[in-house]
Amino acid sequence: MYKIRRAEKLADKIYLMDVEAPRVARHCEPGQFVIVKIDEKGERIPLTICDYDREAGTVTIVFQAIGVSTEKMALLKEGDAFRDFVGPLGCASEFIHEDVEELKNKKYLFVAGGVGAAPVYPQVKWMHEHGISVDVIVGAKTKDMLILKDEMEKVSGNLYIATDDGTYGQHGMVTDVIKKLVQEEGKKYDVCVAIGPMIMMKFVCLLTKELNIPTIVSMNPIMVDGTGMCGACRLHVGDEIKFACVDGPEFDGHLINFDEAMKRQQMYKTQEGRALLKMQEGDTHHGGCGHCGGDE
Ligand code: NAD
Ligand code: FES
Repeated sequence: MYKIRRAEKLADKIYLMDVEAPRVARHCEPGQFVIVKIDEKGERIPLTICDYDREAGTVTIVFQAIGVSTEKMALLKEGDAFRDFVGPLGCASEFIHEDVEELKNKKYLFVAGGVGAAPVYPQVKWMHEHGISVDVIVGAKTKDMLILKDEMEKVSGNLYIATDDGTYGQHGMVTDVIKKLVQEEGKKYDVCVAIGPMIMMKFVCLLTKELNIPTIVSMNPIMVDGTGMCGACRLHVGDEIKFACVDGPEFDGHLINFDEAMKRQQMYKTQEGRALLKMQEGDTHHGGCGHCGGDE
């Protein structure tokens, strides 16, 4: 069992939990995710890691209560426990393998939309801990939906906040802030990391393509079981077929067909849609992992 050390409501339907999971805390890196299960019969829920404390042996998760399982999760309190907490899974963010001195010469822009602030935070924190100053844009629908603002402030070089309704920070979407920084203020970026809802990542990528800024996105939202078995997260990255949960979740955003991925995400929600995908793509239960070749 994996005990919950802290449980907090961050905003409407958004919750944060520190979970005792020393092995995961020892090995996890920014960009990776865990799968949690409330009890034996519970659904497997993949969640990107928001933070970790290797000494305390805890991993922080942030989730949105959007279905039966996450609504049940939201009822858990400090002292309760998860039945399973598996990880770290997926590949870590690529930059952690780069030479730190070379990273210092690159200008990174992180763009977080809504709950996407949770997976962006450990990446910005890692940069800060390695002496690399980065610009960060956080977008939210409204002031009350803004999460992790204080935490982000401590680790960002420059933090820009935008709300769709103008109740805090700049009035507008994250793409408006990118345009302002690059086109009006003349800022130059070598890499953009954009994590948030699919529609946000799509529009950030359209813009950064125009602005010539290589962009990394996280395809976490299309994952279902997170194990490479269900096939839900199969996607085209350029000409290649990848699985977000095994090969990602982070990919070159300019190579992703977001419309296809969003359509697939919708199809996967119905039994009929899942049956159609299975017919078209073969039994992704075999080879869905992308490693054994059984799906070819
Ligand atoms: P949201 O709808 O509140 O959007 C957050 C921000 O994204 C907005 O404030 C805006 O700045 C920007 N945005 C939205 N639509 C845009 C558009 N068309 N053009 C430009 N910018 C746009 O976000 P939310 O409700 O917190 O999002 C929840 C979604 O985020 C869920 O679907 C979840 O799957 C996803 N999510 C993704 C990841 C990931 O790893 N990619 C992680 C956590 C959550
Ligand atoms: Fe099921 Fe990736 S989430 S195969």
